[in-house]
Amino acid sequence: MTSAADVRVSASRSELATSVAVALLARLSHVQSEGRVPQIGLTGGSIAEELHREVARLSPGSGVDWSRVVLWWGDERWLPTGSADRNEVQAHESFISAVGVDPSHVHAMPASDEGLSLADAAVAYGETMREHGAGYFDVLMLGVGPDGHVASLFPGHPAAVLRDAIAVPVEESPKPPPQRISLTFEAMERSDAVWFVAAGADKADAVAAAMAGPAEIGSPEAVECPARVPRGTEETVWWLDPETAPPS
Ligand code: 6PG
Repeated sequence: MTSAADVRVSASRSELATSVAVALLARLSHVQSEGRVPQIGLTGGSIAEELHREVARLSPGSGVDWSRVVLWWGDERWLPTGSADRNEVQAHESFISAVGVDPSHVHAMPASDEGLSLADAAVAYGETMREHGAGYFDVLMLGVGPDGHVASLFPGHPAAVLRDAIAVPVEESPKPPPQRISLTFEAMERSDAVWFVAAGADKADAVAAAMAGPAEIGSPEAVECPARVPRGTEETVWWLDPETAPPS
């Protein structure tokens, strides 16, 4: 069962980052108030970077106990440990280090210099998620590319139709770097909430296409616009700025 999409348009890109950060902190607090440890899937990209900084800025006083938050990634660039272009390095720099997440709860995808092949690294991440995950995300955050890609699942790319795996290797990514690891759509769909976060006029067409309605993995619609696939079982939110918002 998937949820109908909820569209939330902020007045500007910066207000979008703040709105998502406020909502994320509130969701973390709510899950913890239920006695659970929130499982969050993070995304890379520029708007994610901005909202992460807002999370760090707004975290004091939010009531979130960061020692009881578990972080995962939707995708990662296949680069050496510490590379500034790795999503997890950017996330550490923008908020993880500031808020003090328990390092044992931060599950970065493997780096290219850890002795694993790209394919084995993807398998290893799936094993880590099976061992240390909860089998679902409370919130999976997804940036959206101008071509409608989410995580590192790109239009017409063979990785976007793979099943029976949690994470897969991505070769020849149209967005550099060429090699990446990505969660599969099957893994993404084990999310109570999927939050798409998109800003900038270059995303407007992709967001409009994605909001035309959900599509099944491997369908022509999904191959053309991967952002049509992930939906939360309980909640799907499109967090948009005015440039990506559908015409009112
Ligand atoms: C990545 C991201 C990618 C990103 C989109 C949007 O590793 O590059 O995970 O999926 O979220 O490309 O990126 P922007 O927000 O920078 O446009």
